[in-house]
Amino acid sequence: MTRSPTPLAAIVLAAGKGTRMKSQKAKVLHEVGGRPLAWFPLLRALELGANPVVAVVGHQAEAVEAALAAALPGAPLRFAVQREQLGTAHAVLAAREALGAYDGPIVILSGDTPLLTAETLAHVVGARAGATLALATMKLANPHGYGRIVRDPAGNPARVVEEKDANEAERAIDEVNAGLYCAEAAFLWDALSKVGSANAQAEFYLTDLVAMAARAGGAVAVPVPPEEASGVNDREELARAGRVLLRRRASELMRGGVTIEDPERFDCDEGVEIGADTVIEPNVRLKGRTRVGAGCRLGAGAILTDATLGDGVTVRPYTVVDESTVAARAILGPFSRLRPGSEIGEEAHVGNFVETKKARLGKGAKANHLTYLGDATVGAGANVGAGTITCNYDGEKKHPTVIGEGAFIGSDSILVAPIEIGAGAYVAAGSTLTDSVPPGALALGRAKQVTKEGWVARRQAEKQNKGAAEAAPPPAPGEGPRGGRAS
Ligand code: UD1
Ligand code: MG
Repeated sequence: MTRSPTPLAAIVLAAGKGTRMKSQKAKVLHEVGGRPLAWFPLLRALELGANPVVAVVGHQAEAVEAALAAALPGAPLRFAVQREQLGTAHAVLAAREALGAYDGPIVILSGDTPLLTAETLAHVVGARAGATLALATMKLANPHGYGRIVRDPAGNPARVVEEKDANEAERAIDEVNAGLYCAEAAFLWDALSKVGSANAQAEFYLTDLVAMAARAGGAVAVPVPPEEASGVNDREELARAGRVLLRRRASELMRGGVTIEDPERFDCDEGVEIGADTVIEPNVRLKGRTRVGAGCRLGAGAILTDATLGDGVTVRPYTVVDESTVAARAILGPFSRLRPGSEIGEEAHVGNFVETKKARLGKGAKANHLTYLGDATVGAGANVGAGTITCNYDGEKKHPTVIGEGAFIGSDSILVAPIEIGAGAYVAAGSTLTDSVPPGALALGRAKQVTKEGWVARRQAEKQNKGAAEAAPPPAPGEGPRGGRAS
């Protein structure tokens, strides 16, 4: 993280609608890496030490403000509302009040540039020293849609001309405005007050400042990598930006000692932490505030959201974990589903087609097959047999099940909560229990077995007799046991 030695404020423009997204939702709220687009430039400005950072919101202002404030808790973030979107110069002016008497340098960013790095931003801010305005530029093979940089005979930027206002010669210029600027507050507010809207779009263009700076004391163009400064304007660009972020994230994790078997099939939200020597198989998704310890293995297709895993945890393929914690060396899956509030103890096993919800498993407890544990506490070393169900819901309320340490629950048991199975107790397979079981007891809750010896042979004999009777020629009318054939 680079800290600016001099004061710096930032303005992030995020008031536009984003027409090309074709969405009900404001463009800057669309997410990559689990964060709204505008979160990225805001964070980059904060990382650089900018204080305050002002987000200019307008389209869906309340929703945008709420999402950004929630995504950056505690940051020196202020919001300014641009009621009507009359252009980028108008948007920057909307931030003036929020900046109060601040009179140092101000960096201006677009809310739709999630790929901008802190280094590039620092570079643009640093280049302003000695000039009135620094602006980021890039050369594009297809500059269509961007403002073009017109240079003077000495090679300095003289002005920016927007696509819609450009003549043919200007449209042929391949150096474009990246939409990232830095200038002193005094110059900015003075120049903005002079910007008009006599142009093809009848908008107040922030780009008019370049010509004013060129006349005042010079504008300096700072070349930046196009893959960082390109904005997200439609869904394809959104997906592409998401991929670039993931590739960066994968590289960073691999440098930190994480094995990612296929970085092209790896999905991880911003802020997820993964310890060294953890191995990640293809198509794993790590979402929200997930933290994975060291030396874990995450099997193919596992999806972890707001999950906390200790060291050495094994998550076998296609396991889904939501808002749960898993202690060291526990084993999950394949095909386990941990719903919110599950706490899996050290070395515990949760196996095939086992669902847990608000379930606490003690150290070494096992529930390996086809089981539902809801609102349940399972003591250390207890064994929950295949097909066990905790009936936690009576149609109105949820009730707890407590299984003591070392207890053994036979397969296909139904535990009707509230119920407590004491430590070391045994529950016979196939039991339906409604009453608690004291420690060390055996509980049987099933119909007593009836065994009929020789039954099969007797049945076969009966069948044979019946068959022989039917195969015999039909008796004459009036004869035989039935006195005639039924029709
Ligand atoms: C702008 C630049 C163009 C540059 C391009 C780089 C101007 C006039 N043009 O064009 O030179 O090449 O960015 O991407 O500035 N916004 C507001 N309020 C408004 C208008 C826009 O907040 O009234 C915000 C948008 O939400 C967006 C940013 O400003 O985050 C840029 O606006 P946009 O309409 O995308 O400008 P471009 O036409 O792309
Ligand atoms: Mg744009």
